[in-house]
Amino acid sequence: MARVYTAHWKDYELIDAGNNQKLERWGNVITIRPERNAYFKPVLSPKEWESRAHFRFNEISRTKGDWEQINGDKSKDWQIECRELTFNLKLTQFKHLGIFPEQKTNWDFIAAHLKPGDKFLNLFGYTGGASIAAKAVGADVYHCDSVKQINAWAKENMESSNLSDIRWVHDDALKFAQRELKRGNRYAGIIMDPPAFGLGAKKERWKIENKFHELLEVTNSLLEKDGFLIANTYSPRLNSKRIKEITSAIVHNKKVEITTLAIKTTTGKILEYGDLTRIS
Ligand SMILES: C[S@@+](CC[C@H](N)C(=O)[O-])C[C@H]1O[C@@H](n2cnc3c(N)ncnc32)[C@H](O)[C@@H]1O
Repeated sequence: MARVYTAHWKDYELIDAGNNQKLERWGNVITIRPERNAYFKPVLSPKEWESRAHFRFNEISRTKGDWEQINGDKSKDWQIECRELTFNLKLTQFKHLGIFPEQKTNWDFIAAHLKPGDKFLNLFGYTGGASIAAKAVGADVYHCDSVKQINAWAKENMESSNLSDIRWVHDDALKFAQRELKRGNRYAGIIMDPPAFGLGAKKERWKIENKFHELLEVTNSLLEKDGFLIANTYSPRLNSKRIKEITSAIVHNKKVEITTLAIKTTTGKILEYGDLTRIS
């Protein structure tokens, strides 16, 4: 399948990947953390990884762990720039640092396709990369996430980027989208980045392979005539063939591109991050 690559930028580089780990530079901080898509051999030796990195994430369970400082004396929170926006990074126990760098290609797409005053919706918005990229070009932005502390982190990123007036929605993404549809609100652009395993409005557990159809149906109906929709999905059980079947049933008279999102390491490896569907 065709790939869409996110390129490195001044403050982010995927240096190397392999042995189920990745070596990344965030500004002047280098980290080692688990990456199950890096099932191949790395280019650099383990010794080289160890000597370059400041922090290493040691897994305690499949989702949680601790950061160990292995070189230098760096703070566990710092800032990086991306598209002249400022992101506050923190070493979390969930191995994330507060941005998914592979998403930058979507932030570029959003900034290129929105005009001042356009309405933009970020569902499962996390720390707001897409929201602040849209706000920076003057869009009217709605950011929805069901975790209060995550919305607070996104607000911090908005403020550090000298932006204001994003509309923060603390709600279940599907429930909010359904309500917006009923209210007759429409959007020039929507991005959704649902987790592979989610919790619904009544805290019920769902899997993206069973929820994607419903999410796509509502978000597609929320689009203005020339609006675009971006969907990121990370589940092997929702493969491109299945995404194609679902989009063909729902989307008419629009271009649908289903690709694999990827980043090339500085050492020449290709790391894939899941499926990227763009409807425009
Ligand atoms: C994979 S992250 C999104 C990453 C984001 N696209 C980025 O690159 O910055 C998924 C987010 O969805 C949120 N989330 C999970 N279940 C949700 C639900 N039912 N409704 C709204 N948000 C939800 C989580 O709190 C998390 O912030």
